[in-house]
Amino acid sequence: MRISVFGLGYVGCVSAACLASMGHEVVGVDVNPVKADMINGGRAPIVEERIGELVERAVRDGSLRATTDAAEAVAATEVSLVCVGTPSAPNGSLSTTYLERVAEQIGRSLSKGHVVVFRSTMLPGTCAELLVPILELSSGLRAGVDFGVAVNPEFLREGTSVRDFFAPPKTVIGESDEASGDVVAALYDGLPGEVFRVPIPVAEMTKYADNAFHAVKIGFANELGAVCQALGLDSHQVMDVFLADRKLNISPAYLRPGFAFGGSCLPKDLRGLVYAARKADVSVPLLSHVLPANEAHLQRAFDLVTAPGRRRIGLFGLSFKPGTDDLRESPLVELAERLLGKGYDLRIYDANVSLSRLMGANRAYIAERLPHLGDLLSDSVEEVLRHAEVCVVGCTDPAVLEALDGTGGGDGRAIVDLVRMPGAAAHRDRRDYVGIGW
Ligand SMILES: NC(=O)c1ccc[n+]([C@@H]2O[C@H](COP(=O)([O-])OP(=O)(O)OC[C@H]3O[C@@H](n4cnc5c(N)ncnc54)[C@H](O)[C@@H]3O)[C@@H](O)[C@H]2O)c1
Repeated sequence: MRISVFGLGYVGCVSAACLASMGHEVVGVDVNPVKADMINGGRAPIVEERIGELVERAVRDGSLRATTDAAEAVAATEVSLVCVGTPSAPNGSLSTTYLERVAEQIGRSLSKGHVVVFRSTMLPGTCAELLVPILELSSGLRAGVDFGVAVNPEFLREGTSVRDFFAPPKTVIGESDEASGDVVAALYDGLPGEVFRVPIPVAEMTKYADNAFHAVKIGFANELGAVCQALGLDSHQVMDVFLADRKLNISPAYLRPGFAFGGSCLPKDLRGLVYAARKADVSVPLLSHVLPANEAHLQRAFDLVTAPGRRRIGLFGLSFKPGTDDLRESPLVELAERLLGKGYDLRIYDANVSLSRLMGANRAYIAERLPHLGDLLSDSVEEVLRHAEVCVVGCTDPAVLEALDGTGGGDGRAIVDLVRMPGAAAHRDRRDYVGIGW
């Protein structure tokens, strides 16, 4: 394929050289003539393992050249990869200045059938709402009809970027139409890793999900390390054990957006750890903000429940997670308490919770938080459903799901889904359904 690569920085230079080495014909474009000259002289403008030899070989065999002339590069190619920088603006927002400029330059020389692929990191909506209109205005053509658009975020790491290019953790293709996605897929034909073809805003967001998670992981490890050090422990020994747990720690567990956490362990143990850190004069801002973050999430759920403006609420699920009757620090108990405090008329169903069976600390907890639980609890799903103008789904009990399925929508009853109940997709189009996290 004939490819123009806009921006010859870390991402652009590596993409250009690696694509050329895979047999594509590549033209690099940069506003900085020094970078273009270096490439044309067979030298890489960046320092990276193996990049020097790749650039030198590709230029020598004629599969890679560079220019500062955007129009000429677009005209000579079928696909343009945009790899310009998207730095932080002084207020922390994403600067799209370079993206806008390059979209206008490409647009001016765009011809029918060309595909424009954005590799730069950009927030969801940037492509469809900002860049496509610029491309259309400057070209007089229509995206998805006359020319293609795709978003293909880059996951390479500086230092090992060439290796990462040839062994990517995954390939993400955000496409507005299938044909544009096919062109991007063909670029990387033969490379390993799973390929995800998703809507454009999803592709834009995946990069933020990754980088935010990487940053949180590093912050977490370093804070934990600091606490270990203050307590006289070897943090690496602790993390060796932590990392060996592939069931709950290094795994997909706990990574699906849903309702707030609670229960008798997580809040208590976080509090205990943060207290120990404070006592040892170790600052742990990340760990100390986890409970406030959870609290903000609970408030989001409360706002969803109260948004319809109806007073009669049916709460399905009360214990802190399915399959237990443990109510201690259950976020659903907290939600119930807040609703009662604001005068909502609440009825609760939880197949696992029966007042007469509650014992010990569990009973004491609920007696303090919801002293009138006996008046609110019902052992009949139907009864709570009949009462409810708003159904809050906090469990995946099949009896509850079946009863809610039966409502079918249109009966004026609102559903607030805190667990993305199985079959939620069928409810999603209902005007009165709202789910957390989608
Ligand atoms: N560096 C990384 O490891 C990495 C990894 C994944 C994603 N990204 C993302 O990729 C994008 C590029 O990052 P980078 O580190 O390669 O940036 P960079 O600053 O190293 O390179 C950007 C290049 O674009 C050029 N440029 C600016 N405007 C141009 C225009 N109108 N026409 C042609 N060239 C132009 C600049 O001169 C520069 O050489 C960013 O959005 C970044 O967030 C970076």
